[in-house]
Amino acid sequence: MLVLGFESSCDETGVALYDTEQGLLAHALHSQIAMHAAYGGVVPELASRDHIRRALPLTQQVLTHASKTLQEIDGIAYTQGPGLAGALLVGTSIAQSLAFALQVPSVGVHHLEGHLLAPLLEENRPAFPFVALLVSGGHSQLMRVDGIGQYALLGDTLDDAAGEAFDKTAKLLGLGYPGGPTLSKLADLGQARFQLPRPMLNSPDLNFSFSGLKTAVLTLVNKQPQLDDQTVRDIAFEFQESVTEILTLKCMKALKQTKLKRLVVSGGVGANTRLRQRLNEAAAKRGAQVSYPRLEFCTDNGAMIAFAGAMRLNAMQTQTETSTQAYSFSV
Ligand code: KG4
Ligand code: ZN
Repeated sequence: MLVLGFESSCDETGVALYDTEQGLLAHALHSQIAMHAAYGGVVPELASRDHIRRALPLTQQVLTHASKTLQEIDGIAYTQGPGLAGALLVGTSIAQSLAFALQVPSVGVHHLEGHLLAPLLEENRPAFPFVALLVSGGHSQLMRVDGIGQYALLGDTLDDAAGEAFDKTAKLLGLGYPGGPTLSKLADLGQARFQLPRPMLNSPDLNFSFSGLKTAVLTLVNKQPQLDDQTVRDIAFEFQESVTEILTLKCMKALKQTKLKRLVVSGGVGANTRLRQRLNEAAAKRGAQVSYPRLEFCTDNGAMIAFAGAMRLNAMQTQTETSTQAYSFSV
């Protein structure tokens, strides 16, 4: 089954072609970062208009790359939500119109399910069951994943998501938009000089809370006589140490609690080098394995939507009504 996937939930237009027998055939992405940078964040109306401009040329690009035609497509997947309403509407309208014109089924995919399944696009795909850490700009969740569509929430953030904490802290440090990756790069050049709290590190549950950490950064920034380059690097260093220590410890707790030996990491913060280093070390001590998507599939992309959609469409065609109902993704 050949599935065309569209991602348009925020500031990236992603299109991909996934074949259930041959795997990922092609993917293309247009990032709107440069367009929104001047405004210090995503402007929803500009995002919607840009998705309209990009979606069809990107579709043509993936078809050409895979030497396929529209007529060969068996199904269309699109991000249903969560995301910016206008941006989602563009992807939904294009996907459903194409599906109607081609007389093929279309399926709306939960954006988080896309992220969650992104590591399965890799060659050494992890086997079920596994614990998933999903850390993006909007979510920080620990899930138990027993199969496609079989997800149990183990822990969640009580306030800011990990990526949101990176972005807001970056703003406090004057690092502009999008701040998370910039903050992470500066943190790698910083040293242990300041101390920030580790919120909920020792709480008995698997939940997170990052908004207090951001406030602690604000207090620390206000105390500095001068926010010179090295001070910014050192604050970034300690902030990254705090977030990655909390995420690592909670992941290990989740592995212990579920008695599983496989951890899968996805979402934009999953691209963080220090987080990967800490998780790899901690997992090795437990004799557990960690899988990540390639860096470009940590952040938003069309491949994860084409893949998740292909799994759903395939199941709808081959399985009973009851088993496809298991695809509800409740978060
Ligand atoms: O998954 P994603 O593309 O979007 C959402 O669905 O939210 O994740 C974007 C988030 C942003 O908050 C960004 O700052 C963060 O991921 N991010 C990072 C890194 N790369 C992206 N955070 C920390 N370190 C990174 N290297
Ligand atoms: Zn995302």
